Amino acid sequence: MEVAKNEPKTPAYFFYLQHPPIPQRNSALSTVKSDSSTLTPDSIKERLKLVKYPGFSRDIVSFGLVKTATWVDGTASVMLALTTNDPDVPAQLRKDVEECLRSMIGVKRVVVEITTQPAPTTGGPADAATSTAPKMIQHAVAIASGKGGVGKSTFAVNLACALAQVLTEAGHPGSVGLLDCDIHGPSVPLMIGLSGHPEIEGEGADAQLIPMEKHGVKVMSMGLLIEENTPVIWRGPMIMKTVQQFVKNVRWGTLKILLIDLPPGTGDAQLSIAQTLKLDGAIIVTTPQIAATQIARKGGLMFQKVNVPILGIAENMSYFLDPAGNKHALFGEGGGETLAKQLETILLGKIPLLPEIRTGSDSGMPITVVNPSGTASNEFQNIARTLLMQLAQK
Ligand SMILES: Nc1ncnc2c1ncn2[C@@H]1O[C@H](COP(=O)(O)OP(=O)(O)O)[C@@H](O)[C@H]1O
Ligand SMILES: [Mg+2]
Repeated sequence: MEVAKNEPKTPAYFFYLQHPPIPQRNSALSTVKSDSSTLTPDSIKERLKLVKYPGFSRDIVSFGLVKTATWVDGTASVMLALTTNDPDVPAQLRKDVEECLRSMIGVKRVVVEITTQPAPTTGGPADAATSTAPKMIQHAVAIASGKGGVGKSTFAVNLACALAQVLTEAGHPGSVGLLDCDIHGPSVPLMIGLSGHPEIEGEGADAQLIPMEKHGVKVMSMGLLIEENTPVIWRGPMIMKTVQQFVKNVRWGTLKILLIDLPPGTGDAQLSIAQTLKLDGAIIVTTPQIAATQIARKGGLMFQKVNVPILGIAENMSYFLDPAGNKHALFGEGGGETLAKQLETILLGKIPLLPEIRTGSDSGMPITVVNPSGTASNEFQNIARTLLMQLAQK
């Protein structure tokens, strides 16, 4: 869905920061020195990768918050664009950027310009002021992969549950939807523990499907509509029609985020779904091995062609964590990082290969629900927070 665009409410404000530098703190920001002869806009941006977004382990450059960085006659000027309702965030970032750049040799003056706009809220006063139609689904994000079997559906289900946990904690229960568009192998109902059929309200063209709910996630899947023994050949031509119906005729209610588990592959079916759904972005799931990342790259390029931003790469089955806590790289290493670089996006996180993830999927009790404080669940929750944060910037 298109994001409700809010006009900046807070006027841009400027901070002119003078030498001399403040006393050095014992932090990563002040330990690296650079040579003034190498100062360029790029080196300033590179340096800003040391500045983390408050409360996150990710830096402000990879979050895409640094709009411009320039370097003229000893003055480093940086422009940040933030979407936040928290006044502490711009204040903290101003301080951190200042400290980070002032410790670069050759920098005499730092100018930080920060524009902020409020984070959108569905149906809230900000929306009422800026959009005529309230957004029912604030963000739609596709979960995609080049090939099947990389754990895309497992990832989608666990991320949906983690998003529900994070958003419930933030006071927004019931605001996550999961749409299973895999017509040929809809596995979401089994993985999230749903069976039976959704209720239908109304009749004919106006009939509305009521999503089924589990673990705080509203779910709609072809698997809840078609009987298991329906021939695949009959399902194929229905893809587009079904997806359009899913979007139009499901009563999602108000959602902060709708995740869409796309069918595997990079063909026409995926492309037309991507275009029908007006996606805010896509997450590409891959395993660390090169064979998987090569195919995943094709998927990424497909989204870029239709102007759907890649929000990040999720590496699944990254390593096996043995009971003693040792990591074993069963499928190689580095695939997720390489793919993120190739597609000019970020690596959102690495999910370990764990027997509990498979058994959780097979029993309808995702690991994020069974063991919400374990290593894998923490990784899903971190990815959920990063994703929400990225979407809030859009
Ligand atoms: N991180 C993981 N650890 C253990 N098993 C996993 C993990 N991710 C996926 N699986 C298992 O791998 C199989 C394929 O996963 P699935 O999500 O169906 O893949 P896809 O949707 O990409 O085809 C499933 O049996 C699932 O339980
Ligand atoms: Mg699947």
